[in-house]
Amino acid sequence: MSKSRIIVLTVIVSLLGIGLGVIIGYFGHPNQNLNIPAPVVPTEDPTISQLLMNELSADNIKENLRTLTQSPHIAGRDQDDVVLVDLIKQRWLNDLDSVVIHPYNVLLSYPKQNDSNYISIKLDNGTEIDVSQRKELVIDAEQNNPNVVDPFNAYSAAGEPEGDLVYVNYARIEDFFHLNRTKMISTVGKICISRYGAIFRGDKAVHAELYGCIGLIIYSDPIDYTVPWSGVYPEDWYLPSTGAQRGTLWTDNGDPRTPNYPSIQYTFDLLLQQRYAHLPKIPVTPIGYIDAVKYLGKLAGEEVIDTWKGGMNITYRYGPGFSAEHSNSKIKMSVKTTNQPAIIHNVIGYIRGKVEPDRYVLFGNHRDAWVFGAIDPTSGTATMLELTRAFGTMLKRGWRPRRTLVFCSWGAEEYGLIGSTEWVEELQKELQARAIAYLNVDAAVQGNFSLAANGVASLNQVVFDSTKLVSNPNPAEVSEGRSTVYDTWKHRSPSSSEDVPSIGGLGSGSDYTAFLQVLGIASVDLRHTYDRSIGLASYPVYHSVYETFSLVEKFVDPGFQYHVSVSRVWGEIGRKLADSPVLPLDCRLYAQDLAKKRDDLITYYGSDMEKNGVDFAQLNESIRIFIQSANEIHQRIQSIDISNAYETRAINDQLMLLERSFIDQNPLPGRVAYRHVVSAPSQHNSYGSTAFPAVVDAMFDIDADPDPVGRWNEVKKQYSILVFHILSAAAALKPAV
Ligand SMILES: *[C@@H]1O[C@H](CO)[C@@H](O)[C@H](O)[C@H]1NC(C)=O
Ligand SMILES: *[C@@H]1O[C@H](CO)[C@@H](O)[C@H](O)[C@H]1NC(C)=O
Ligand SMILES: *[C@@H]1O[C@H](CO)[C@@H](O)[C@H](O)[C@H]1NC(C)=O
Ligand SMILES: *[C@@H]1O[C@H](CO)[C@@H](O)[C@H](O)[C@H]1NC(C)=O
Ligand SMILES: *[C@@H]1O[C@H](CO)[C@@H](O)[C@H](O)[C@H]1NC(C)=O
Ligand SMILES: *[C@@H]1O[C@H](CO)[C@@H](O)[C@H](O)[C@H]1NC(C)=O
Ligand SMILES: [Zn+2]
Repeated sequence: MSKSRIIVLTVIVSLLGIGLGVIIGYFGHPNQNLNIPAPVVPTEDPTISQLLMNELSADNIKENLRTLTQSPHIAGRDQDDVVLVDLIKQRWLNDLDSVVIHPYNVLLSYPKQNDSNYISIKLDNGTEIDVSQRKELVIDAEQNNPNVVDPFNAYSAAGEPEGDLVYVNYARIEDFFHLNRTKMISTVGKICISRYGAIFRGDKAVHAELYGCIGLIIYSDPIDYTVPWSGVYPEDWYLPSTGAQRGTLWTDNGDPRTPNYPSIQYTFDLLLQQRYAHLPKIPVTPIGYIDAVKYLGKLAGEEVIDTWKGGMNITYRYGPGFSAEHSNSKIKMSVKTTNQPAIIHNVIGYIRGKVEPDRYVLFGNHRDAWVFGAIDPTSGTATMLELTRAFGTMLKRGWRPRRTLVFCSWGAEEYGLIGSTEWVEELQKELQARAIAYLNVDAAVQGNFSLAANGVASLNQVVFDSTKLVSNPNPAEVSEGRSTVYDTWKHRSPSSSEDVPSIGGLGSGSDYTAFLQVLGIASVDLRHTYDRSIGLASYPVYHSVYETFSLVEKFVDPGFQYHVSVSRVWGEIGRKLADSPVLPLDCRLYAQDLAKKRDDLITYYGSDMEKNGVDFAQLNESIRIFIQSANEIHQRIQSIDISNAYETRAINDQLMLLERSFIDQNPLPGRVAYRHVVSAPSQHNSYGSTAFPAVVDAMFDIDADPDPVGRWNEVKKQYSILVFHILSAAAALKPAV
């Protein structure tokens, strides 16, 4: 058939289609005149909220956790990418409307089997002493599994460097400033030893490389992973001396070979080569404090300042090198970690919305773990599977949400948010147009102290309202008069400025990152956590072999009531977002949050910025206009006819557009993976969140810049871009004409 005939035919068929639609539309509905009214839509059924909560069971979550953590399930290996993918797929085929598997061919990293990484002290005659444990000690039968991967840091370079040791505290940028500028201790050509904590380990490696180190050892100091006078696993949940924290070093998210594009079959080889250059160039590996004490205890040099001291019974010194007795010895690292391609999978399950199937509310949790992962992430996976079962039960009773629910089981999160980032890259146009919100739960239950949430301010109200409906899982708290999750949360983690619980900003560190930071999809990250005031760097057994089912059952949540509580909060937030005729996104809270971020910026940097010619009147004016638009759209919401589908949809689209408005068309300077101008991971710590990141990044260490004029011009440029985005967002909330 010739091309022109195809076009003619297509036109006719399309016209027929449109004609039929009009005819069916016209005659299909009685009482319609030419002034066709918008379709009328049903409102939500709020009774489903309680039914859903009652359906969620602690015993089911416990059995899910037991099943999912029977074997180690690291990304790219069969247990995670075949067995658990299939398990989740089968459950969801039963509970949900449909399931799609998205495989990606990505670059992962593993230590060498039977020749895993170690550290030693090398004497001048070549003998190695004080050789570190290559494996964590098996304490009970549960850890005795041949598929446990030995401690390593993903994407480390391989190598066997030898040299003098220098202690670098947490390897924060300010720690290197302290060595370089205050103590005048050079780290060039040295092997550094850093403790875990304070910042993302990938940033430690970046800083070590920047300051010329030839290797980096990262250990867990007892001061950060235990509390004084208390036992360690198996007596208590604190980290045993042989425990070592695995974890990735990758800082840019997604398959390192394909920045901004998905790693799928048609991806051209050259695209696959792009980013090798940004992976760590030095060997990096983790050890436990059973070994760290041997190396740190022998260091020479001056005693460290108080804030650098850890909890081992030694005098902490900077180095470089060992004390007199060992002065001819070097520290040696043996790292055989290599990068290897692997196929990873996301499992995506859908409940189709009955009124607006093309609007998505997404629930996400990763599936892969470093070892058994009974807390990270499997407490979340066990919870998500119970939530999907409960939603499935509601479907069988005849309920169906107004909008589509999407459940995502991500692969290879631990390596650098790989599965979620590749999926967001692949589906970016669809998600930009359709995603209302992304609700992340990674490690659902890390302790029994309080709910914790980080997220964008427009979601705060729906999160608060949901937690007010969930009963308090802690009986002692109930008897204190705090009957809901909200009550304990507000009691234990109050906001500094309002009479509500505090919700932090989002940096990076879990799968919400690409949704929020690349596409501008409103996101929140939820967990139930331990008491942060006891000073731990994370929950103690994080990423070690001891993160097992028994540990959760004995110490973290014996009755699984905190797991149920998270499933209820998560489910109710999603249900409200999916069912409410008008989206429960609050632009006024976003406006308040912007104003607060502006105040903080002025507090920390204001006088310096003004002195150098930044005019805060512009930022103030943009925020004033934004506040006005935010107030106006909520006034309009009061008066719309929610039975009018067009009117409701129009306002909802504006609410959805709010977060998108803050995405710049270019990545933030020097940060390929981030485009959001209001929040990004902190420049020297991806776990942290920085407000107005491009402006703050440009200000960083500005006094030490040899070209102050150039740097201040960069600050002013980024400041203008920020003001532009706030005005764009304000305009996006205005009525159409
Ligand atoms: C590793 O060691 C185990 C036990 O010593 C042995 O069974 C296995 O074959 C070895 N694997 C490799 C790849 O050498
Ligand atoms: C190296 O020196 C150590 C300590 O002096 C000694 O114990 C060891 O036997 C020596 N090894 C060799 C191969 O000479
Ligand atoms: C401090 O860092 C600068 C810049 O990297 C370097 O040139 C200098 O040699 C360092 N000083 C010491 C004592 O290491
Ligand atoms: C710490 O080490 C010193 C010197 O080795 C020893 O005398 C002391 O008993 C140790 N303290 C503890 C609490 O282990
Ligand atoms: C919470 O956990 C701590 C530490 O394991 C424990 O002492 C406490 O009894 C737990 N509280 C509740 C209510 O479960
Ligand atoms: C901008 O607003 C802040 C907070 O209200 C205020 O403290 C500051 O003086 C204002 N600056 C200018 C230049 O208007
Ligand atoms: Zn995780």
